[in-house]
Amino acid sequence: MRTRSLLGLGAAALGGLAAYDLTQRHHAVLRNYPVVGHARYLMERFGPELRQYVVASNDEERPFTRDQRRWVYASSKLENAYVGFGTDNDVERTVGYPIVKHRTFGVGPGTHPHSEEGVPLPGLKVLGGPRGRRHAFTPASVVNISGMSFGSLSHAAVEALDEGAARAGAWHNTGEGGLSPYHRRGADLVFQIGTAYFGCRDAQGRFDLDRLVDLVASAPVRAIEIKLSQGAKPGLGGLLPGAKVTPEIAEIRGIEVGKDCASPSRHTAFSDVDSMLDLVETIADATGLPVGIKSAVGNLDFWEELVAQMSAGDRGVDFVNVDGGEGGTGAAPLIFSDAVAYPFRIGFAEVRRRFDAAGLSDDLTFIGAGKLGIPENAVVAFALGADLVNVGREAMLALGCIQAQKCHTDRCPVGVATQDPRFVRGLDVPLKAERVANYLVSLRRDLLKVAEAVGVDHPARITVDDVDIVDGVTERRSLREVYGYVD
Ligand SMILES: Cc1cc2nc3c(=O)[nH]c(=O)nc-3n(C[C@H](O)[C@H](O)[C@H](O)COP(=O)(O)O)c2cc1C
Ligand code: SF4
Repeated sequence: MRTRSLLGLGAAALGGLAAYDLTQRHHAVLRNYPVVGHARYLMERFGPELRQYVVASNDEERPFTRDQRRWVYASSKLENAYVGFGTDNDVERTVGYPIVKHRTFGVGPGTHPHSEEGVPLPGLKVLGGPRGRRHAFTPASVVNISGMSFGSLSHAAVEALDEGAARAGAWHNTGEGGLSPYHRRGADLVFQIGTAYFGCRDAQGRFDLDRLVDLVASAPVRAIEIKLSQGAKPGLGGLLPGAKVTPEIAEIRGIEVGKDCASPSRHTAFSDVDSMLDLVETIADATGLPVGIKSAVGNLDFWEELVAQMSAGDRGVDFVNVDGGEGGTGAAPLIFSDAVAYPFRIGFAEVRRRFDAAGLSDDLTFIGAGKLGIPENAVVAFALGADLVNVGREAMLALGCIQAQKCHTDRCPVGVATQDPRFVRGLDVPLKAERVANYLVSLRRDLLKVAEAVGVDHPARITVDDVDIVDGVTERRSLREVYGYVD
């Protein structure tokens, strides 16, 4: 009798917990996995203690280490993102570890923002200014949201990214899947043109300039990005697995429901640097917007040719967005993700050095992506010459991504990278928008604080001489030496 009533009590408690989990809005995992989802929070809470006895360190997980994820989660919730006791990185033995060199004296007293305070941190260059584009502008934020399509991400994720970006004054790149209603929640947009020309294609799937002009006029599009390739799968077109092709996405893209949607691996609107620059100028003339390219870096002939043709001065891209081979994707073959295209630092340096040597670097804006939403990586990117950084997966972490790495299966447990309404319901748009905004503001604050430690007033003023790459405790070389930058 007593056992039965105890069991009854237990069942009632579990029922109550399940009801609470299903209706609360703070945690997508609990909304989607009532009761059992608490195991995740228990592991997160007691993981550090357990790991001292059982498994790996805070720095072993990939793509993002536990420390990096913890920093994004805490920043996005405006919780305490500090660490205690000192670094647990194996600085003494790690090869290729970046060290930022602070200065004893610097500019002014500094801004002293605390953890919950934001700082405006606009770019230093006018995007499209040097080429006289009609709608040239200064980006309001040095950190912006990288292209990730509606399709690979859920509508709720896209909405939250858009609202979060709007609150933080950042722009939101549409990704190659077209401009959906969920991109119209207030943020400035960069419209991405992929090889399938979603949003700006004719009935035969060819690029259609008139459609592009109409589309960008209908939304707050500030710039246009022609996607040549993406670090996680360069040389392959985008792939949206059939499971994610819902009727709505099929409608927006003009494709068949439920069938794999593979974009061509190369553009049909141009076939070499010469015709690409012609198209860039055509689009810039027709829209008045700055036009740039996004690309991973592999064979360097393309960049040599681009620099050579831009040196003539009559045609040119307004920005170059270099995506590192370590970049993310919704779905890609393993070999492409693991082994095609240089990692960001090598690829970006190769590109930037070529523009520097031709004296062209002031004529365009350099953007980078590839784990640059983590402060130390972003600092190195700025030191190498990036003017702005884009963040993709780190913003997904702020949305609640737990790095389950199931984005390609349509079974994302937290409703970020799925079209399945069962999972999408867990993602509360207003709450996650706030977290995205908090994360962007926190990252900008950390970047400014590091810049001030280095003695300058903006992260883009950190130079290749301000960061060393150290090998354990025996060797150090500046970024300038490692990546071959000249004065
Ligand atoms: C789910 C997902 C979808 C993506 N979709 C696109 C896309 O449509 N176009 C694009 O250029 N890059 C796309 N990317 C790549 C990101 O924009 C970014 O360049 C890359 O992930 C590196 O940034 P990160 O390390 O901050 O994620 C996608 C990445 C992810 C994770
Ligand atoms: S939780 Fe997993 S499936 Fe969902 S977005 Fe993150 S990595 Fe992808």
